[in-house]
Amino acid sequence: MNETLERWSTRRAFILAVTGAAVGLGNIWRFPYITGENGGAAFLLLYVAFVLLLGLPVMMAEILIGRAGRRSPMQSLGHLASQAGASRHWRLLGLFGAVTVFCILSFYSVVSGWSIEFLVAAVNGDFAGRSAAEIGAGFNAFLADPGRMTFNHTLFLMMTMLVVAAGVAKGLEKLNNLLMPLLYLLLLVLAGYAATTEGFAPALAWLFLPDFSAVTPMVMLQAMGHAFFTLAVGACALMAYGAYMPDHQSLPRAAVSVAVLDVTVALLAGIAIFSVVFAQGMDPGEGPGLMFVTLPVAFAELPGGSLWLSLFFLLLLLATWTSSINLAEPMVATLQGWGLGRGASAAVVGLAVWGLGMLSVLSFSSLAETRVLFGMNPFELVSTIPPEIFLPLGGLLIAIFAAWVMPEQTTLRALDAGPNGFRAWRALVRWVSIPLTLIVLLAGLI
Ligand code: PFF
Ligand code: NA
Repeated sequence: MNETLERWSTRRAFILAVTGAAVGLGNIWRFPYITGENGGAAFLLLYVAFVLLLGLPVMMAEILIGRAGRRSPMQSLGHLASQAGASRHWRLLGLFGAVTVFCILSFYSVVSGWSIEFLVAAVNGDFAGRSAAEIGAGFNAFLADPGRMTFNHTLFLMMTMLVVAAGVAKGLEKLNNLLMPLLYLLLLVLAGYAATTEGFAPALAWLFLPDFSAVTPMVMLQAMGHAFFTLAVGACALMAYGAYMPDHQSLPRAAVSVAVLDVTVALLAGIAIFSVVFAQGMDPGEGPGLMFVTLPVAFAELPGGSLWLSLFFLLLLLATWTSSINLAEPMVATLQGWGLGRGASAAVVGLAVWGLGMLSVLSFSSLAETRVLFGMNPFELVSTIPPEIFLPLGGLLIAIFAAWVMPEQTTLRALDAGPNGFRAWRALVRWVSIPLTLIVLLAGLI
């Protein structure tokens, strides 16, 4: 296959597309609940350190491979490998990425479906005046209902695959452009409201005063996995987006702005959610339902709460939509690279992801006690192993490829940061990102 001629229309459009991929459930749903499960500040500190030392440099590595190859991830890797005189088997890294996004999208769609359900409930004013206990019970009843869960999962996946089938539309660039600022505004309002509750001070203390006694190799592994997950790095999904990156744009500058936005959204969401948790005497280690219970509880008491809550779930839905499109793109691009049309590829991917996602749907009812592997049910398995193991492993291989295998001149050009920027980036990847990822992975696994 020849180089793709598609490009993001502007530099800004590229940054928006990558921000759209990065900001999603990882920030608003996953970050608060795994930070809650892992004791707060020490975990937060680790995650931010991993974003800087691993997530950011590897994000640049991943995007520059796509930019230099200008093909689907598998084909870019194969093409660049043979250019460098290395093994064509590097292509398999693209396949591994496809497996990773396949698993992630399957549960991502199910959880994004929850925000559809909650959006509708908020619009109906279902939460107004309810107690925390009633709202929690309502959430559990929803989880135990496979019919409603399936409906929302199906709807969300259809929304995703329709956009992907149509190509990375210009409309989406514009939508992102309009909605991301609104999401920040709402999060600021929410965090502002949280500041007025008595949970605010304990939340800040809990988020920002680290207790390192809780840090184990497993906790470090989770923090590292989350750094990759939240930046959408390690699955070759950003590699697919990199293929459409315009010429003449500094990659480090783009990557830094994406990471700053991504961490800010996570922090604002964390402050808002934990303030409510502590104000209501709830449990920060509550798990995947954390956000879906705390936010309705917070808004139930606010004047005009149903409206704010509706807006919030709408924006969450749009944020997850732009991420799931990114998750689907590398699979679709790979099938296309094998000669299938874009529409057919999207249909195949959609059906397969739907099927795997059904196992996650049922993990909250009939399959709840079905231990597939490591004592985990299907949802627990796909929502932990791919983010915590596959992403760092993929990121490690991506980093090795970009910093050790690719011809220096190709990498230098694709990074677009001048010779000094290139050398600084390569030293960071070679001597910090790669060894650190390896150590944390090995320590966590043993
Ligand atoms: N970054 C997304 C989030 O934080 O919700 C999740 C994600 C997207 C992970 C794309 C991996 C990926 F390839
Ligand atoms: Na994110």
